[in-house]
Amino acid sequence: MTPPAPPPSAETVETLTRLRAVADGPLASATNMPAAMYQSDEIGDLERDRVFARDWVSPGLAAAIPDVGDHLTWTIADRPVFCVRDPDGRVRTFSNVCRHRMMTLVEGDGNSRRITCPYHAWTYDLGGQLVGTNHMEHTDGFDPVDICLPEIRTEVWQGWIYCTLDPEIPSVADLLAPIEEFVAPYGVADYVPVHRVDEVWDGNWKFLTENFMEGYHLPVTHRATLGTWMPMDSVVFPDQCHEAFTYQMFEKDENARYGRAHPDNDRLVGQWRTTTFMPTVFPSHMYILAPDHLWYLSLRPLGTGQVQLRFGIALAPEVHASLTDPEAWIAEMVGFFTAVCEEDRVVVEGLHAGSSSPLATPGPLSWLEHELHHFMGYLADRLVPNTGYGSAPT
Ligand code: FES
Ligand SMILES: [Fe+2]
Repeated sequence: MTPPAPPPSAETVETLTRLRAVADGPLASATNMPAAMYQSDEIGDLERDRVFARDWVSPGLAAAIPDVGDHLTWTIADRPVFCVRDPDGRVRTFSNVCRHRMMTLVEGDGNSRRITCPYHAWTYDLGGQLVGTNHMEHTDGFDPVDICLPEIRTEVWQGWIYCTLDPEIPSVADLLAPIEEFVAPYGVADYVPVHRVDEVWDGNWKFLTENFMEGYHLPVTHRATLGTWMPMDSVVFPDQCHEAFTYQMFEKDENARYGRAHPDNDRLVGQWRTTTFMPTVFPSHMYILAPDHLWYLSLRPLGTGQVQLRFGIALAPEVHASLTDPEAWIAEMVGFFTAVCEEDRVVVEGLHAGSSSPLATPGPLSWLEHELHHFMGYLADRLVPNTGYGSAPT
C-alpha cells in the first residue's frame, strides 16, 4: 500500500493559496503564477501525482501507428508506456516494463507482431499477454497465462490517442464534447503525419504550455517567421471556462503562408476554410489545427527544470495528395515550423532562467493572455485540496 503523502510545506501552501486567489479573481487584475510554481520540486511532485497521473495526456496521432504491430512510446507520470495497434485495429497502451526483471521493453517507434524483451527474450503478444519464455520450467507455479503487462486506459478521439492512469475520470470524448463541433469538420483522423520529433528544453513544462496558449508574444518572438500574419484583435476565446481544455480560434488572411483550405477540401465551408482552431487539452496536449495542416505539441515534465516535448506536423489529405515534390515541400514546411519552435525554445528557457531569480515577481496579464488565467484555474482545481473534481485524494 502506498503510504500517505506528507503534508505540503508552508511555502507550497502559500504558493497554492496565491494561485487559487489569482485564479478566482478577474482576468483584469490577474498576474501570472508565482515563480515557485515553476521552480519548486514539491509543486512538481504534486503535479505528477494530481495532474499527470490523473488527467488525459496524448502521445500523438493514431495515424502514426496505422498498421497492426505499429507502436510508439511515451511516459505518463514517470510510467514508461507504449501504444500499439492490436490485431483488431484498436490502439492499446501498456506499461513498457518487462514483467521479469523490469527491463524497458521497447524504445521509440517500431513494428512487430510480438514484443520481445531485449534482456532474456520474454515475449508478449499485442494484448500484453506473456506468450513465450525460455528456461522457466523449474520455477514453481510459473505459468505465462498469469502474466500480463499492465494496460493503461486509452481512447482515440478525433484522430488523437489519449491515455490516463485514472480509471475514474470521465471519458475524453465526454470531456472534449464541447469542442467536437469545431474539431470534427477538419477530419484530423485523415491528416497525414509527416514529421515527429522529441526534444528536451531547459524550462518548466508550464512555461511551454502558457507560451503556446497566448498570442501576445507572436509579433515579437516570431517576427521573423509567422508573427506578421497572425491576427491579434480578432481572436475568439471560449465564452466560459471548461475543466479539461481551453482554446482560441482565428482566421488567416491571404498573407498567411499556411492555413487556408485546399480547393479540393470539401469538408470545410465558409469562414471555416480560413479558420485555425487552437485547443489546449489540459494539462499538456496542444495543437494548431488549420484547414491545410496541423502541428502539435505534447509535453511531459522532466523534473521542474526540463520538459520533453513531442512536436509533430501532419497535412490535410488533399494537400498531401497534391504535392508534386513532396519531399522538398515537406522539408520546407518542417523547416519553417522548426524555426518557429526554436524561437519559442529561446523564450521558454529565458522564462525559466528569469523566474529563478529571487527578484522575480509575477506581473499583470494582458487580455491576450486570457488562457493563462484559465490554466491557473485548472491547476488550482487539481493542486489545491478540496476544490474541483481533481481535488487531492484523501
Ligand atoms: S527483464 Fe525482460 S526478459 Fe528478463
Ligand atoms: Fe510561440
